[in-house]
Amino acid sequence: MPETRLTLHRHCTDEASTIELGAALAQAMVRCELPGLLITLRGDLGAGKTTLVRAILRGLGVTGRIKSPSYALVEPYAIERKSLKLKGTLQTNAYHIDLYRFSDPNEWDDAGLRELLDGRSLCLVEWPERAPALLPQADLDITLNPSPQGREIDLQSGSPVGAAMLHQLASAATDV
Ligand SMILES: Nc1ncnc2c1ncn2[C@@H]1O[C@H](COP(=O)(O)OP(=O)(O)OP(=O)(O)O)[C@@H](O)[C@H]1O
Ligand SMILES: [Mg+2]
Repeated sequence: MPETRLTLHRHCTDEASTIELGAALAQAMVRCELPGLLITLRGDLGAGKTTLVRAILRGLGVTGRIKSPSYALVEPYAIERKSLKLKGTLQTNAYHIDLYRFSDPNEWDDAGLRELLDGRSLCLVEWPERAPALLPQADLDITLNPSPQGREIDLQSGSPVGAAMLHQLASAATDV
């Protein structure tokens, strides 16, 4: 049985180190060649969820403006990645979803969220606790807690691909 549940803790002293963690997560995704992935991000207002999402998307090659999707619920991005396994380029969609203002379950289908969470795209979801019954099990669940020294960030995998990503992340940290 492949392992599913792994946890990793990171202490990020400032915004730059949160951005570094996001870049490292993007690298781990690229190394694992993961096409579809659900990542949920928890933490109070201003905890750093969007900061981390932006850094992940930048690390995956998104160059344009990355705005917070609070009003639109979803912001889509196209991602192109080189795949060693496929010996070519992999086209993937990434969706930044913010459920802070989500309240009506009808909105779920209206916003097309069911189709987005089809397992083929990268979905980065802020405020997953607003729709616990609708979201599938996350591959990676990230909790950010402000502390006097910056942010305490806990990463927990919920699937074998999530666990593979955390392994990548942990081994990349020991490389430096
Ligand atoms: N490790 C850190 N230490 C201190 N400040 C940080 C750290 N990481 C990010 N920040 C700062 O915290 C703020 C986080 O804002 P951000 O919009 O990312 O939060 P959020 O969790 O997405 O909030 P919301 O729930 O409102 O969407 C930013 O001002 C950023 O500069
Ligand atoms: Mg946010």
